[in-house]
Amino acid sequence: MSEITLNTIISDPEVQSLIASADHNLEEIGYTEHGPRHLGVVAERARRIILGLGHSEREAELAAIAGHMHDIGNVVNRRQHALFGAVLARPILLRLGMDFDEANKIIAAIGNHHEGEGEPVSNISAALIIADKSDVHSSRVRASGDVVGDIHDRVNFAAVSSDIFIKNEGKTIGIEILIAPKVASVMEYFEIFLQRMHSSKVAAEYLGADFELIINGVKLA
Ligand SMILES: [Fe+2]
Ligand SMILES: [Fe+2]
Repeated sequence: MSEITLNTIISDPEVQSLIASADHNLEEIGYTEHGPRHLGVVAERARRIILGLGHSEREAELAAIAGHMHDIGNVVNRRQHALFGAVLARPILLRLGMDFDEANKIIAAIGNHHEGEGEPVSNISAALIIADKSDVHSSRVRASGDVVGDIHDRVNFAAVSSDIFIKNEGKTIGIEILIAPKVASVMEYFEIFLQRMHSSKVAAEYLGADFELIINGVKLA
C-alpha cells in the first residue's frame, strides 16, 4: 500500500470542497478565517513540532495531514466540529489508500484538537493542538468583520505575528506572539486565549516538554 502524503490530500477535490464549504459556513456566522491559509500554517507547524522533537518523517507527514484536515467538521456545525471532522475524514483517507492504523491516528488527532472537547492522545494529536492554538494573526479577520466590536477579531487583528518555537533539544515548546497593544491589550488576549494556552501546555507536557508563552518579548508562562 502506497503511503499517502499531504500533497495527495491537498489535491483531493472532496477535501478541497469540504474545506471551502466549512470556511464559508464560519464566515456566515462571523468566525475568523479557517481556510487554506490557516490549514497551511497548522500543517507546517505540526510537522515542525514532530520533527523538532526527533520523531520520524512519517509521523511528521501524518501530523501535517491532520493539520490540513482538522477543521473540515465545520462543514456540519461549529459545535463539535472536531468530532464531525474526524468522522468525515476517515472514509476519505481510506478511499485514498491509507492503511487503517494511520487513518485511526489522524482521526484521533482531528477529534481531539479543540480546546475543552479533547486532549492529546498521541504525538501528532499533541502537535496539532499546539500548532492550531498558535495561529493568531491579523489576516484571519474577515474583511467584512467589525474589528472594534468583536474581541476575537480584535485580538486576532492585533497579532502582528505568531509562531511556535522549539528549543533545549525539544525540552521546551513555545508560542511567541507580537501584539499591537493599541488594538487589543495583553489582558484581552488572555481573556480569549487562556483556555487555548492551557490546552497547549497540556499538549507540550504530553510531548515531554515545558510550555512557554512569549508576548511582545515578555515570557508570560
Ligand atoms: Fe478547530
Ligand atoms: Fe483550526
